[in-house]
Amino acid sequence: MTGSPELTGLVWPRLTDRLALRPLTLDDVDAVHAFRSLPEVVLHLSHDVLTREQVLTRIAQRIERGRPGAAEPLLALAVEELRTGRVVGDVMLRLEPSRSIGRTPTHEWEGTIGYALHPDVQGRGLAAEAAAELLVIGFRDLGLRRITADAYADNVASNRVLRRLGMRQEAMIRAKSLGKDGTWLDDNSWAMLRDEWPG
Ligand SMILES: CC(C)(COP(=O)(O)OP(=O)(O)OC[C@H]1O[C@@H](n2cnc3c(N)ncnc32)[C@H](O)[C@@H]1OP(=O)(O)O)[C@@H](O)C(=O)NCCC(=O)NCCS
Repeated sequence: MTGSPELTGLVWPRLTDRLALRPLTLDDVDAVHAFRSLPEVVLHLSHDVLTREQVLTRIAQRIERGRPGAAEPLLALAVEELRTGRVVGDVMLRLEPSRSIGRTPTHEWEGTIGYALHPDVQGRGLAAEAAAELLVIGFRDLGLRRITADAYADNVASNRVLRRLGMRQEAMIRAKSLGKDGTWLDDNSWAMLRDEWPG
């Protein structure tokens, strides 16, 4: 395994039809708190509703993980709507080395994507637009070998986003996690290999 792909060489902002993506900063705390504090947004996320203080800590930790040599590298981006300039969501690309079970080490890396949007802007296809740009960053700019995503089966919108991106559903793990409503949630694993990316 070699060092992680170079995150500091990426150029910002990344523009899509309706969005600008750029690294989260501490100035984004209020905008991120506005949606990560809502029960409906965190329903299928690994954290509960967040206080402003928790959002600040979370963003600060993520900024550290974007620095060269970070132990668990992660790119955490604000999603700005071009029309209004408002931060309406955040997306992330977490990096990890591909495994080798033989004597030959792998120099390849892979990533996992995630996203959350303010309910005001959900239902307009923005998550897929932002996530498609994450695939560009991951495959074209960082040369990742594989990009994955997990979505609980109950999270219909997220599963549809991943299918629309062209990812393959590789597995469904039954009753993986206890949900916030007290029921066990099935977890869908999605993936795309570099060679499968239409680019
Ligand atoms: C998941 C999320 C990012 C989707 O973003 P979005 O921009 O609103 O998604 P879209 O508008 O592209 O909708 C995706 C699809 O789901 C459908 N959809 C949305 N909500 C739905 C619902 N409750 N039931 C059924 N279908 C739904 C849409 O019609 C659309 O279908 P299509 O692809 O056939 O057009 C957004 O709902 C969100 O932020 N959720 C909270 C955080 C979260 O769960 N993140 C993902 C963790 S895995």
